[in-house]
Amino acid sequence: MTAFTRPVTVLVLLAGLAALAQCGSSASADPAHAAGLLAFDRVHAVLMHPRCVNCHPAGRAPLQGDDSRPHEQNVQGGVDGQGRFAMRCSNCHGTSNAPGEHAPPGAPNWHLPAAEMPLVFEGRSKAELARQLADPRQNGGRTPQQLLAHLRMDPLVLWGWQPGEGRTRVPIAHADFVAAAAAWIEAGCPIPD
Ligand code: HEC
Ligand code: HEC
Repeated sequence: MTAFTRPVTVLVLLAGLAALAQCGSSASADPAHAAGLLAFDRVHAVLMHPRCVNCHPAGRAPLQGDDSRPHEQNVQGGVDGQGRFAMRCSNCHGTSNAPGEHAPPGAPNWHLPAAEMPLVFEGRSKAELARQLADPRQNGGRTPQQLLAHLRMDPLVLWGWQPGEGRTRVPIAHADFVAAAAAWIEAGCPIPD
């Protein structure tokens, strides 16, 4: 990096951070508002994909398949999301996909959200999901920056693009998804009507 580009980078970063601090505060008169809403459409399309919904169910049981049916063998997340009794997730799910169709998929720390912070996507409207993501009391205590980092790097999120044999991957490129989430946040996390 040259001495010329460095201050520019810093400025861009500072502008980004200022916007990130304002999640949820954008006014509808702001021209960025409409662009932010469009960006959220792309974020929403990914969140509602079965690879994501299956671990973000309305109940305490994980779902499976493109039809998001209840997990076989009555598997339940339990209090900590790691499963109950002999049905702990880690008994069957490893840190990477097991080879072959219908073999357990895997990624580091494969589990459901905990009961006290259920992070439900299934059945949520676009507005409800946007509010949830923007609200630290509902999104696992995350700042907008932490939310973005989660979407960029979390192994369970990344798994949606490498779901193993016989499973549909999330169709929107991961980089486009992260860019859309960043654009939504920079616009102040506008909430759809
Ligand atoms: C194996 C289960 C699993 C899969 C698959 C999964 N997640 Fe999650 N997700 C979790 C768990 C568990 C948490 C809470 C972990 C934490 O707080 O660190 C979480 C947290 C989140 C959060 C933060 C919570 C919120 O509501 O703001 C987001 C956003 C998220 N996941 C998005 C996704 C997306 C997008 C996909 C699909 C590409 C996905 N997840 C796939 C288990 C999963
Ligand atoms: C007894 C073994 C077993 C246990 C315990 C188990 N799973 Fe599974 N799971 C599987 C198998 C096998 C599959 C693959 C099914 C298939 O593809 O037909 C699977 C699939 C899944 C899928 C579907 C992925 C997709 O998008 O289609 C999710 C999500 C999942 N498990 C989450 C969990 C969670 C969370 C736990 C713990 C709370 C858990 N599982 C416990 C065996 C198990």
